[in-house]
Parts: sequence; C-alpha cells; structure tokens
Amino acid sequence: MTKVKFTETVLRDSQQSLIATRMPFSDFEGILETLDNAGYHSLECWGGATFDSCLRFLDEDPWERLRKIKAVCKKTPLQMLIRGQNILGYKHYPDDVVRLFVRKAAENGMDIFRIFDALNDFRNIKVCIDEVKACGKHAQGCICYTTSPVHTIEKYIEMGKELEEMGVDSIAIKDMAGICGPQEAYDLVKALKSSVSVPIQFHTHATTGLGPLTYLKAVEAGVDIIDTAIANMSGGTSQPCTETMKYALEQLGYETDLDSKKLKEINDFFGPVQKKFLENGILNPYVLGTKTDALVYQVPGGMLSNLVKQLTDMNALDKLDEALNEVPNVRRDLGYPPLVTPMSQMVGVQAVQNVLMGERYKTITKEVKAYLRGEYGTAPGEVSQELIDKCWKEDELVKGRYADTLEPLFEKTKKELGKTARCDEDVLSYIAFPQVAEKFFAAREEKESNTVNYTIEKKED
Ligand code: CO
Repeated sequence: MTKVKFTETVLRDSQQSLIATRMPFSDFEGILETLDNAGYHSLECWGGATFDSCLRFLDEDPWERLRKIKAVCKKTPLQMLIRGQNILGYKHYPDDVVRLFVRKAAENGMDIFRIFDALNDFRNIKVCIDEVKACGKHAQGCICYTTSPVHTIEKYIEMGKELEEMGVDSIAIKDMAGICGPQEAYDLVKALKSSVSVPIQFHTHATTGLGPLTYLKAVEAGVDIIDTAIANMSGGTSQPCTETMKYALEQLGYETDLDSKKLKEINDFFGPVQKKFLENGILNPYVLGTKTDALVYQVPGGMLSNLVKQLTDMNALDKLDEALNEVPNVRRDLGYPPLVTPMSQMVGVQAVQNVLMGERYKTITKEVKAYLRGEYGTAPGEVSQELIDKCWKEDELVKGRYADTLEPLFEKTKKELGKTARCDEDVLSYIAFPQVAEKFFAAREEKESNTVNYTIEKKED
C-alpha cells in the first residue's frame, strides 16, 4: 500500500493565515503531547511570521517557545519555514548571521528546515542549506509555484535537479496562493518524481477551494507528503483539512500513519481556541470562505485585498480594474517574479502608481529600484532593459550574489548590544527585528525586576 505522510500546520501556517499568528504558547501547550503522538511526519511550528509575532505581540521569546515545544514533542520532527538569505524578513543578511541563525535553531530543537527564496534564485538558499546539513538536520528546498510564460514544467524540473545537486533531503512545491490546479499538480509532481529521487512534499492553501483536489492528484502522481491543518483551524486561507484528507486517501486505498482518535482529541482541543479568536474578532469569518478571485485575476488573494485597500485609501477604487490589468504588464517587465511576499506588494504598488500617474513608470518605487539593481536576486525571466537603464548605470548593478556585498554583522552587533543581549539568540532576535526586540528586552527587564520586588514583599509578609 502506498503511504502518504502529513505535516500538521496548525502551529504555524494555519494560525498565520487565519489569525495573523496571534496564538500564544499557552493556547496550544496542552495539546503538544497528543500532536506528538498522532502520527504526523512533522509539526510545522516555527519560522515564518511566528518569530516576529512572539516578540511583537505575544511577549514571548521565540527561542524559548521552540525549546518548550521540543521538550514535549520528542518523537515527531519539528519543522520551520525560513527564507534563505532573508531568514525571517525581507532583506538579505550576511552569511555569518544566516549560519548562526540556523545553528541556533538546530540547537534549540529544530529538525526540518523548509528553505525558500521568493524568486527561486537558489544562490539565496545555498548557504542556509549548507549550514542545515552541517548541523546534521533535514534541509528541504522549495520551489515557489507560480504561472507565467517562463514557468514551464521543464523549468521546474531544472529547479528540482538543481536542488537535489545542492544536497537537499527533500523538495517542497510551495503554492502559497492556492492557485495550482489538480492537473497542474499532477503533471508537475509526475515530472519531478521521474527526475529527482528525494521525497516531494506539496504545500497549498484552501483559499480558492482547489486545495483538496490538488492534493489528491498530487498524491496520485506520487507525492510523498502533504501539508494540512486540523479541522477547526483549516480551510479558507489556511491549509486543507487533515482529517478530510486522511479519510479520503484511506478510502482510496492509501495508507497514513495518522491516529483518528488522537486527531479527534486535537480538533476538540482547538474548538474553544477557534471560538476565542472568533469572539475577539481576530479570526474574521471572511477568511474561512472560498475565494475564487485569485483564479480569475491570477493574483493571490492577499495581493488583491492589498490593492483594494491601497486604492480605497487613495480614494480611487474606481481604478481597480485598470490596476488589475496593469499587474501582468508590470510582472512581465520585472521578469515574471512569483507573486509572493515581497514581490506581490512590489508589483501591486507599482501597478497602482502606473495607473494613477497616467504614465507608466513615471515614478518607480524604492523597492522596484532595488529589485532592478539586483538586490533580490535574478528574476526568473528577462527584466526590461529599458526599465533598468532608467534607474541604474551599468556599473551600479549587483553582478553576483547580493549577500556577498554585505559585511559580517553578528560579532559587531553583539558588542554593540552589550549586556542587553543575554545570549546569542538575543543578538539574532535583535538583528532580525531591532526595534521590536529592543522593546521586548526592556519589558523583560521590567517584568523581572517586578518579580523580584514581589518576592521580597512576600518574604516580608
Ligand atoms: Co503557506
């Protein structure tokens, strides 16, 4: 019997997609042991926006969260999402920071690193993969899925082979917008399975409603692992549902390692959590529905709502159709970047500018300029030379890998922080999110001095 493995996303992508990553550790602490025993291939629980959210909104040390999860989940590998040279942000960091971040994540309990670059420029994930391997952990290379004239099956096979040559332990097809249809998934997985030998994992979102159909055909084509979320935290902008996929796949004769009783326990546990977030308004029922606009406009749902907001703010919502028609033009001029953060924002904002100014590229945003200079990496297709010439002289362009132009940062920052940083993990938090980490450190000091006073008062009683 063919086995299909499952990665549970409730602790990372699911909660990031539904409730802006606002789930505190205390909301899931009580179910960790059951999650560890339910038969998952891995638990995605860290990276992505969780790190920033812990520091910024939840008053939690992200490193401590990881250690606390690991202390309970000893059997099931823990998984994180990392943006290669960008780590968890949108700018490139020097190699010393990337390497130490990976090493510290591994030391604190991370097992599987899902590593991606928004442009599929694998020079930007190479150092990360290399360090994960050096730490003896699992490096998963990502192919960001998108559609364009240059994103052909042949191109994707090339990427798969390149990743395998780089030494990845598995490959993920990352369909961040939920736009990959069942036939596309079938063809892509089939082609990859016949050209690479490492396991293939499929990641999609339920946004457009295609998700479960896409997974089914991906499984038929031989995909090894799928990403799902437990029922109460699934659907809509989150992942397709774990229990539903297990039920359907087993009915079709596939084997899964998942324990139905444990899944029921996990789902029952997240019932009140879902209810809490519905009641406090953080979970908007709107995101739970099916949205097919992404299929019509070929832009991700998040990008569409950003465009609407931007035009509303400028009192120009009547230009929405024009802006949507301009998106494919800007994308073509920029060499067809996948519409994932930060490219989706970049393309969207520039398209709006082009429409509102009544002249294309009359103004060019700072981000697009940096992109044209080569600061994000190499575009999948050909970038408009006219546009590059408009912003840069030939000798100003970044020729090689952008990170090679960056000075080492860790030791310098560590010295600057002095006693404020209590460990290397603190320094890394600061490098990733300086203002947020600074506030977090100050609040930590404050809290601890209060605790001490409290203890003394208690003694005096
Ligand atoms: Co995702």
